[in-house]
Amino acid sequence: MSRVTLSRYLIEQTRDHNTPADLRFLVEVVARACKAISHAVSKGALGGVLGNAGTDNVQGEAQKKLDVISNEILLEANEWGGHLAAMASEEMEEAYQIPGHYPKGAYLLLFDPLDGSSNIDVNVSVGTIFSVLRCPEGTTTPNEQSFLQPGTEQVAAGYAIYGPQTMLVLTMGNGVKGFTLDREMGSFVLTHDNMQVPEQTKEFAINMSNQRHWEIPVARYVSELLAGTTGSLGKDYNMRWIASMVADVHRILTRGGIFMYPRDAREPEKAGKLRLMYEANPMSFIIEQAGGAATNGRQRILDIQPESLHQRVAVFLGSKEEVDRITGYHHNA
Ligand code: AHG
Ligand code: MN
Ligand code: MN
Repeated sequence: MSRVTLSRYLIEQTRDHNTPADLRFLVEVVARACKAISHAVSKGALGGVLGNAGTDNVQGEAQKKLDVISNEILLEANEWGGHLAAMASEEMEEAYQIPGHYPKGAYLLLFDPLDGSSNIDVNVSVGTIFSVLRCPEGTTTPNEQSFLQPGTEQVAAGYAIYGPQTMLVLTMGNGVKGFTLDREMGSFVLTHDNMQVPEQTKEFAINMSNQRHWEIPVARYVSELLAGTTGSLGKDYNMRWIASMVADVHRILTRGGIFMYPRDAREPEKAGKLRLMYEANPMSFIIEQAGGAATNGRQRILDIQPESLHQRVAVFLGSKEEVDRITGYHHNA
């Protein structure tokens, strides 16, 4: 069979699902920006792009040079095309307005330009996460409020993972597709036509160093996972924690698992570490489209009504049987 590139896939999506041309264009532009980020990331020390930028972002986190570079690449790639009404990023406090000399479009683009930044200096996989919303009707100057839509309103979501291969994983509401970057041709080629999360798993992902800070349902569940065949779950589990959400989610999308970043007592005022709008929502949309589940321990992440652009949320996502189990423990707590 001849290779299906991202462009061909998007054209066929338009025919089969009436995907609007400017949404198709949006995905192509984001994919092109991810190719540029992949190129920058792969240079590493040779490109002088490792290490800290010497600035902090709105999250109060030290920015890596590649956080800033990746953010710039996405802004510059998207601002002129006429497909966006505004953008929002983990790296920017306010929504980014499209410069007046460019036309505006129907969509809002949100992104974590470089996810897993703590891994960049040690050459471990990192990624880019993006989410697409419609700009509310009649809104000519989108503000933070325009973005505060529940995850169920997403029209597309995806991530690029910069690992041994650079891949783009995408959902537009009709399942999850994986594209592998052919560097010689410079095109993303469809290699994973229908990504599905196995309903059962023997693998969990959590940062165990936070164990003493967890709430009771999480402590109970993880102790059962660790008890393996000697405990109530009756099977032994393996553990992985890459500390790049994109890499952990990609593994789960590929072979199953449960990913957990619970809220914890270190900063009880925070609902968790991960950000709802440009980490949890896009990843939850992808996971659900692949037959998995995603909750904050108590409710479906996609149903959460956002209250602020950078709000954080607890995340339990992946193989449905395990997500349902830990969500049940929270309800019975
Ligand atoms: P980012 O680099 O965009 O800030 O995201 C990092 C996130 C996420 O990718 C990962 O799952 C989590 O932080 C890892 O947190 P710990 O370092 O606390 O394990
Ligand atoms: Mn991130
Ligand atoms: Mn980031």
